[in-house]
Amino acid sequence: MSVFDELAAHAELEFPHGRMLPLETYRSEAVLAAERAAIFASGWTCVGRTADLASPGDHLVAEVPSGDPSVPADGHRSVIVVRDEHGGLVAHDNVCIHRGARLLEGCGNVARITCPYHAWTFRLDGSLIGAPYMSEPGSDARALRPEEHRLGPIRSEEWEGFVFVSLDPDAPALAPRLAGLRDVLAPYRLDGYVPVHQQVDVWQTNWKLLVENFMDAYHVFKVHKATFGVNGDHTLDTVMHPGTDHWAHHVVVEADGDDIAHPDNTTLEGDWRKTIVLAAVFPTHVMQVQPDWLWYLQISPLGTDRVRIRWDVSVAPEVLAGAGDRDAYVADLLALLHAVNAEDQPVIEAVRRNADGPQFARGPLSYLERNVFDFDRFVARALTSRP
Ligand code: FES
Ligand SMILES: [Fe+2]
Repeated sequence: MSVFDELAAHAELEFPHGRMLPLETYRSEAVLAAERAAIFASGWTCVGRTADLASPGDHLVAEVPSGDPSVPADGHRSVIVVRDEHGGLVAHDNVCIHRGARLLEGCGNVARITCPYHAWTFRLDGSLIGAPYMSEPGSDARALRPEEHRLGPIRSEEWEGFVFVSLDPDAPALAPRLAGLRDVLAPYRLDGYVPVHQQVDVWQTNWKLLVENFMDAYHVFKVHKATFGVNGDHTLDTVMHPGTDHWAHHVVVEADGDDIAHPDNTTLEGDWRKTIVLAAVFPTHVMQVQPDWLWYLQISPLGTDRVRIRWDVSVAPEVLAGAGDRDAYVADLLALLHAVNAEDQPVIEAVRRNADGPQFARGPLSYLERNVFDFDRFVARALTSRP
């Protein structure tokens, strides 16, 4: 039986019979190729936050997992996302249409996009302004008509303070798919959270193991006893919600805890003031949303056993404003999240190594692994062409 036959059977599983995906799903190059074609070619990838692109000319360069394994950087395509002169968000291939130079690096602010190779210059909307020395003096035989040239357009969408792109011009719009998740997150008003940190890490594991781990409410009491659990085990405060075909979430309402919302936060009421949401937007975006801060990861494969993780921490504006020493607050928060990562990394790298070994009997899932099941079902359905 091929791994795809096994995945077809997995796609039909009901949650009470749930278990982890077949091990080959985590180690097979054929499965990774199928994921690129069925998941990444048309998926939406979070590339940053609206707050990163506040003013005209603000831009960022994102490495977006692609359906084409032949593109550079292990199947990642470089994309420019920029706030244009009219306040809209636009995205372009980060490749010059003249002879293929890379146009921009990193993030910053530009009035226009000028290629570093031969100085073709583009407006923020991607249209060509002009190109030097294209006609021989005294001749107009090869005159360039700028209006006929523009950078390759990429789909982009802003949603709840996040910026997403899709490499598929025909991908269904993102927001309608996420309407139910928007209802969950709207009370936090995430678009006002202030980015304070961003970094990229590479771990030696399969990308799916990291998505599963982030959405796994079962391991927290054990793996994160010294960090998230240092003031007590909140496992029994966790409420699991069945996922959809596009997203999943669960919440932790800290029953005995104090509010984690700042007193100056007057929009969150009741239990929302101490509710933490763990959510995934399939395939690659996971986030921990709190009244005081937001942590999100963009997770993409560099191979079957290497994953690229771009993660970002943002803080509620009233928390930053009220912190006596803002730098110290941020440093403490980052120390916590680095410690959490250090707890997870060896566990899920070992799971990936064990996926190379003999098949073991995959055990039943806890009710706390409901969102792991939801994500795995999404993968199994996508790889076996189920709706
Ligand atoms: S490659 Fe960009 S101007 Fe030539
Ligand atoms: Fe964890």
